[in-house]
Amino acid sequence: MSHLDDVRKELEKRNQQALVGGGEERIRKQHEEGKLTARERLEILLDKGSFVELDRLRVHDCTDFGMEKKKFYGDAVVTGYGKINGRPVAVFSQDFTVFGGTLSKVFAEKVCKIMDLAMKVGMPVIGLNDSGGARIQEGVVSLGGYADIFLRNTLASGVIPQISAIMGPCAGGAVYSPALTDFIFMTEGTSYMFITGPEVIKAVTREEVTKEKLGGADTHNSISGVAHFKDIDDKDLLLRIRKFMNYLPQNNREKPPYLPAKDLPDRDVEGIEEILPDDPRKPYDMLQVIMRVVDNGSFMEIQQHWAKNIVIGFARMDGAVVGIVANQPKVLAGCLDIDASVKAARFVRFCDAFNIPIVTFVDVPGFLPGTAQEYGGIIRHGAKLLYAYCEATVPKVTVITRKAYGGAYDVMSSKHIRGDFNFAWPTAEIAVMGSEGAVNIIFRKEISESSDPDATKRKLVNEYEKKFGNPFKAAELGYIDEVIEFRDTRRKIIQSLKILENKQLSNPWKKHGCIPL
Ligand code: HXC
Repeated sequence: MSHLDDVRKELEKRNQQALVGGGEERIRKQHEEGKLTARERLEILLDKGSFVELDRLRVHDCTDFGMEKKKFYGDAVVTGYGKINGRPVAVFSQDFTVFGGTLSKVFAEKVCKIMDLAMKVGMPVIGLNDSGGARIQEGVVSLGGYADIFLRNTLASGVIPQISAIMGPCAGGAVYSPALTDFIFMTEGTSYMFITGPEVIKAVTREEVTKEKLGGADTHNSISGVAHFKDIDDKDLLLRIRKFMNYLPQNNREKPPYLPAKDLPDRDVEGIEEILPDDPRKPYDMLQVIMRVVDNGSFMEIQQHWAKNIVIGFARMDGAVVGIVANQPKVLAGCLDIDASVKAARFVRFCDAFNIPIVTFVDVPGFLPGTAQEYGGIIRHGAKLLYAYCEATVPKVTVITRKAYGGAYDVMSSKHIRGDFNFAWPTAEIAVMGSEGAVNIIFRKEISESSDPDATKRKLVNEYEKKFGNPFKAAELGYIDEVIEFRDTRRKIIQSLKILENKQLSNPWKKHGCIPL
């Protein structure tokens, strides 16, 4: 046998060893826990046969604790690039079967290499996380490796989309790489994220909590707002990411992909009258409005289980991607509170960074009152949403469906903060505050001194509503470009987006703004 044959044989042997990661026994354990392996996950995530692996034969160089005798090709992470629906993406997939998917110096270098590649060529990075955290045997070197990744996450933010899937443990400082990325997807029952685990919590605070309750998919999708999606298993999650990627551009210099619409751009929007209750104090479901207006079946809601008083998500209008932000009158009457402000602000900033026009549906009675909100810093958090809308230079189209009261009117993509086209339905009420509150303040004396305070108040509320409970004053002032019929909503939005396609607007030069964090 020639030397070349020897090398080829050796290469084949090493490749085969790399493909089985930590070995059959650990793969079996991984499957038993309801999890796929790092490579199986990439097979589902990427277009068939598109994966190109890098650094398959790297091994760690740790010599402490007998580690020199324990080496696995690839060293606990599979990295490379591939395609999703024909478009390139960089990927890393942590391999729990090798040292529990833990991060070594070599592991970090592999991840950094594909992140650097993604930045050079302008493609998204998707990270599949399933790891016991820092490789304890490597000590502080592992901390350095994490920081190298954090730095890249931060520099890549707003340049290329970054997606994290949590498909197993993700604990301690390791959570901060996903936290720095744009969207987090979690699997139910098999994934968790926390800074300190149940044992540490018990020792420090005596609180008892399970891993699942502390940092499972439900917790981060419904309570903390850390995650954006949850799915029942690995396969569903990976397929959802594939779908999600259709809404994103490759980088901040491109627009998201256009897909020919299966819906007429100039069709009437039917059935709004049935959704909107006669009584303006009654709730309705804003999702029903969104679904009727956007391209058929194209709405993909984000963070649907958290801060439900505001709805965010991507949709298509005549085939072009838009970001939707909408108050949800069904929950807390659609008030803006701390969580809703933060949720929408972050989304608006993502859309603005990645050239995605924003369509805003407004039905907001104001900011949520109460000491919990004030003590929690609603002033600071509400300012985030205001800031995000103010600085956004992408096309902004606004439809006021019903209430647009007070400061919340200004915040929700109003004309004054560079809304490009601001429409109102005939049901819109654009006012400084709700009629009852307004009358209580300006006519306090008249009401209390009247012989029949209730009747006097009712009369004054009626008068106030007649004067301000409509879109006319705002239309007279040019704050509303047009009062439109319900059925024209889709036509008008698409028409606006088309004219705004080549919109040019930039903010004053600055190193970066100081958003009230
Ligand atoms: C090295 C580790 C490891 C670690 C697990 N393993 N964690 N090796 N460093 N941190 C190894 C185990 O020895 C085992 O090796 C294999 O991975 C699988 O682990 P098991 O315990 O058998 O699996 P399981 O029962 O599923 O439990 C998984 C686990 C648990 C919950 C992740 O292993 C665990 O709690 N590990 C410690 C987690 C941790 O404390 N990490 C450091 C946190 S500090 P064999 O050879 O038997 O298969 C941190 C700082 C980051 O991460 C800072 C960033 C700034």
